[in-house]
Amino acid sequence: MKPTVYIKDLKNYVSKEVTLKGWLYNKRSSGKIKFLILRDGTGYTQCVVFKGNVTDEVFDNADKITQESSFEVTGTVKEEPRAIGGYELDVKNLSIISIAKEYPITPKEHGIEFLIDHRHLWIRSKRQVAILKIRHRIVKAIRDFFDEHGFVLFDPPIITPNACEGTSTLFEMEYFDLGKAYLTQSGQLYGESGAMAFGKIYTFGPTFRAEKSKTRRHLTEFWMVEPEMAFYDLDDNMDLAEEFLEYVVQTVLEDRREELKELERDTSKLENVKRPFPRISYDDAVEILKKKGIDFQWGNDFGGTDETLISEEFDKPVMVHRYPAEVKAFYMKRDPNNPKLALAVDVLAPEGYGEIIGGSQREDDLETLITRIKENNLPQEYFEWYLDLRRYGSVPHSGFGLGLERTVSWICGLEHLREAIPFPRMIYRNTP
Ligand code: 4AD
Ligand code: MG
Repeated sequence: MKPTVYIKDLKNYVSKEVTLKGWLYNKRSSGKIKFLILRDGTGYTQCVVFKGNVTDEVFDNADKITQESSFEVTGTVKEEPRAIGGYELDVKNLSIISIAKEYPITPKEHGIEFLIDHRHLWIRSKRQVAILKIRHRIVKAIRDFFDEHGFVLFDPPIITPNACEGTSTLFEMEYFDLGKAYLTQSGQLYGESGAMAFGKIYTFGPTFRAEKSKTRRHLTEFWMVEPEMAFYDLDDNMDLAEEFLEYVVQTVLEDRREELKELERDTSKLENVKRPFPRISYDDAVEILKKKGIDFQWGNDFGGTDETLISEEFDKPVMVHRYPAEVKAFYMKRDPNNPKLALAVDVLAPEGYGEIIGGSQREDDLETLITRIKENNLPQEYFEWYLDLRRYGSVPHSGFGLGLERTVSWICGLEHLREAIPFPRMIYRNTP
C-alpha cells in the first residue's frame, strides 16, 4: 500500500509513489494523455494518465470519469512548476469511487440565484473554498487574540426572553407555557454579567436579526464576537478595537496569501490596516457629509451610503464616536459633557464596506438605566437580572461587537455578505 497523502503535503514526496483521494475538478485530453485535475480540499493537483503507462482499465477509467466524480489515484510525484500547485502525479493506477451524474455547476457562467440554490455544491468551487478558508483563519485569529489577552470565552444563551438591540428585528417563538421567547440579537447583556465575574470576557456565536432590509450588508443569521471589559471606558474600548482589528487583518494577510490571490484581492489596502486609526466624532462625520453636498440632518443615523462617503476620506478603518443617543441602544452611557450624545463607537471599514464594529461604554448607574428601560418601553421585569449588575458592585465597563461576515466580506473584497458564510440566511432565503 502506498501512503495516502494530502495534496498540500506533496512537496514532501517528490519522486515517491503516493495515493491521493478526492474529486475531479476538471479534465482535458490530448490523444494518448489525459490530464485530470484532482481536488481534495487541501489543494489541486494535475494527474497525468499516459496510455502507455497504465492498463486499459485504468485508461478507460480516466476516459469516463466526469466532473466531481470521486476517485483514488496512485502515482509518482513530480515537481512541475507549470502545473497547478507546482507538482503533478504520474499516474499508475486510478479507481473510481463514485461517478457523478451531470454536475449542475459547470465552468460556464451561472446566475447568482442558481448558485445559491446549489450552495451545498457551490462551496466546492475554488473561489468559495478560498473565501471559507479565510473565514476560518479570521475566526482563529479572533479567538487567538482574545485568548492571548486574558479574556475568558463566555457563551451566552441563544433563546432569550427580551430584546437587546431594539424590538423591530426580533425573531419570535412560542416557548412552552412561558409565552414568547426570542432568538438572540447579541450576547452583550449576558456578556456584561460575565465581565463582572471574570473581568474580561468574549462571546462568539450566531446572532439573529429579522432584518426587513434586503441589502448586501445584511443577513438574518450572522456571527458576532463581543468582548466586554470591566473598568474600560470608551477610549480603552477604542484602543482595544484598534489593536484587535490590526491583529486580525495582518494575521490573515500573512497566513492566507494564496487564497487572497485566488480572490484577486488588492492586498495593499489591507497592508495599510495598522494603528493608529483615525478617530472622529459623529459631528465631524456629519461635517464630512455636508462638505460632500449631502443634505444630512443632525440626529439621524448614517445609512450605508453615508458610511461609504465618510470612510472614503480615510485609507484605514475609521472610528466614529459619540453618536446622538436617540439613534443608539438603551444601555449606552451618555456623554457627561453632552447628555444628547451616547459614548458609542462604530468602526467603518474602508473601501465602502461600512460598519463592521459597533460598541460603547455601558450605563453603569442603576437609576439612569431604569429610566432608559422605561423610555424605551422595555419590560423592566425581564431586565431585573441585568439591573442586578448595577446593584451589586457596578463598575464602568465597555465592549463592542464585530460582525464576522462583514469582516470576511471586507477582507476578501466580496460584493455581498452571502458568500461570507457557508449557508446564508436572508429575508428571501432560508434554503438550502
Ligand atoms: O452594532 P450592533 O447592532 O451592536 C451590537 O449588537 C452590540 N450589542 C455589540 C456590543 O457592543 N457588544 O452589531 C454589531 C456588528 C455590526 O457592526 C455589524 O458588523 C454586525 O454586527 N451586524 C450584522 N452583520 C450582518 N447582518 C446583520 N443584519 C447585522 N447586524 C449587525
Ligand atoms: Mg451598529
